Amino acid sequence: MPQPDATVFSAAERETLYRIIAARRDIRHFLTNEKIDDAVLGRIMAAAHSAPSVGLMQPWRFIRIKDKPLRNDIARLVDEEIRRTADAMNERRREFLKLKVAGIRECAELIAVVQAPDDGTLFGRRTLPREMALCSTACAIQNLWLAARAENLGMGWVSLFEPAALARLLHCPQGAQPVALLCLGPVKAFYAKPMLVETGWREEKTLERVLFSDKWPENEE
Ligand SMILES: Cc1cc2nc3c(=O)[nH]c(=O)nc-3n(C[C@H](O)[C@H](O)[C@H](O)COP(=O)(O)O)c2cc1C
Repeated sequence: MPQPDATVFSAAERETLYRIIAARRDIRHFLTNEKIDDAVLGRIMAAAHSAPSVGLMQPWRFIRIKDKPLRNDIARLVDEEIRRTADAMNERRREFLKLKVAGIRECAELIAVVQAPDDGTLFGRRTLPREMALCSTACAIQNLWLAARAENLGMGWVSLFEPAALARLLHCPQGAQPVALLCLGPVKAFYAKPMLVETGWREEKTLERVLFSDKWPENEE
């Protein structure tokens, strides 16, 4: 009997991948007092680390926050930034403060993603060095996000923090910059739509609105 070609995906496998992509959500509500099985976390982190990166520089570093007082310090940093963001919002301040924008204290695992100091890679990043390194790290985070969803775990990307202050808390070397706090863990339910849509904060753009042919259309922002 011929063996199936492991490099070719079936319609059912494709369907599963698209379902996972569609069902991924940014999660801010987690079940408390939960843990993630080591094997599951291992698979998720391996998925993150298999991301593409410019010139294969793999500029991501992941720091698992295991220490409780450290997690509390990080949560306070995020609270401070939430207040600053709200103050910068003027008329939407109160509405913003009603949103839940992080689950740092409740999530099972907190992982800081740090952009490593620039290793001087030139391949593919002569013109946009900072952006291409950052895009590579974003690819790793997206892999992690999808793998977490496939494991039926929620993930929330929190970017509300002062990077220099977080770098100090994490003892990052000169040139390293935290870019994400990832809240990971079991959830009661996955939101059906982005939470910012569900709460009426913002509407989603359709694919048609962002997919152009040949040139940027006139009268398009
Ligand atoms: C780079 C990045 C930073 C984000 N930072 C935050 C954040 O600090 N707090 C938050 O509540 N959501 C954050 N989000 C989540 C977005 O609000 C969310 O992805 C968007 O509303 C779409 O919802 P969905 O991910 O459920 O499809 C961030 C997402 C990205 C990609």
